[in-house]
Amino acid sequence: MNIELIRNDFPILKTISAGRPLVYFDNGATTQKPLPVLEAIYEYNSRQNGNPHRGSHVLAIAASEAYDGSKEVVRKFINARSTREVIYTRNTTESLNLVARSYGETHLKKGDRIVITVAEHHANLVTWQRVAQKTGAVLDYIYIDKETGKFKEEDFAKIDAKTKIVAFAQVSNVLGLVFDPKPLINLAHQHGAVVVLDGAQSVPHQQVDVQELDCDFFVFSGHKMCASGGIGVLYGKEALLEDMEPFNLGGDMIDRVEEQVTTFAELPTKFEAGTPNVEGAVSLAAAIKYLNNIGFEEIEAHEKKLVTLAIEGMKKIPYVRIIGSDNPAEKTGLVAFTVDDVHPHDVSELLSAAGICIRTGHHCAQPLHIYLGVNATCRASFYFYNTEEEVAYFLDKLSKVRAAMGYKD
Ligand code: ALA
Repeated sequence: MNIELIRNDFPILKTISAGRPLVYFDNGATTQKPLPVLEAIYEYNSRQNGNPHRGSHVLAIAASEAYDGSKEVVRKFINARSTREVIYTRNTTESLNLVARSYGETHLKKGDRIVITVAEHHANLVTWQRVAQKTGAVLDYIYIDKETGKFKEEDFAKIDAKTKIVAFAQVSNVLGLVFDPKPLINLAHQHGAVVVLDGAQSVPHQQVDVQELDCDFFVFSGHKMCASGGIGVLYGKEALLEDMEPFNLGGDMIDRVEEQVTTFAELPTKFEAGTPNVEGAVSLAAAIKYLNNIGFEEIEAHEKKLVTLAIEGMKKIPYVRIIGSDNPAEKTGLVAFTVDDVHPHDVSELLSAAGICIRTGHHCAQPLHIYLGVNATCRASFYFYNTEEEVAYFLDKLSKVRAAMGYKD
């Protein structure tokens, strides 16, 4: 992996901030786009833009080919059985809302149980709260060990015969732990529950095979893996998707519409009402090709090097507290932390003044922060285009944050 060549592909990384190229460590929030993705977007809009599946003119056909072609790239990428199982949405959040509404609200009833973890993003939590409120199902939680960030295995016993949904992130956007979801998926299936796996923070960094995982639904966003915003994916097993009500109603998702009744289109179109985001779909296919070209083994190894340097360096700064495990072997490429007596927003502003972008706040995971007893945290999240030199620069600036706030030690 030639990091310099790779960085040349990302125009935004040449931005000068605080007198040096910007250090972008907010990849958990969104990632940057390489030239092949930007060119694919330009190319589509310059030569192919039309409304897919509507019309028989040359541009409508070109747009249909671009859209349908991208689906096959996504199918192969996650190893879905067919493109009937691949639905485009706006993002992970919309994918989860679709499952909650079109599966959860119609298949659950009073007394059923939904089991999620306390580390979930609001998109995989508020959605299930509403399903519980609407159906009378009970929402229960798997908690984590506050030191290690690992799930409390005794809580797995909450998954029982009443459990209809088990939903969790493959990688938490705050804890960033390497985690094998298979045992939890198998346990859920032993009790007949449907598994919803949130891949927003995993797919950009590791190879995912939905058939091997055997999850029932899998969701992720394009913008966290070098594609443009506004394109997300919902994978679902075909039999489940067939048995679900459409989410949005309108154009394209229909078979025949009469004054009083409508029949719906086949999968996946049943869930794709309205003019789709073809440009986003094209960008996602280009991003997948770009990532595959680099190779996920290379990406993982590089990110492991960066997170190891970061954690080892942070452990040497006495007033920095790492959230969850501080063992780099257990971490993916993100690390959340706090600085004693300094508000995360102040940490972020001081780092931003030095040209470093990190994220602060509750990271859309308020229940986790409440459980951990912290209002907010800082988070540095890496991608394959970040360098060891950037991590060293970040550590140097981080070590000066307390002094900048007027503390003497
Ligand atoms: N879910 C995104 C994050 O963790 C926005 O930053």
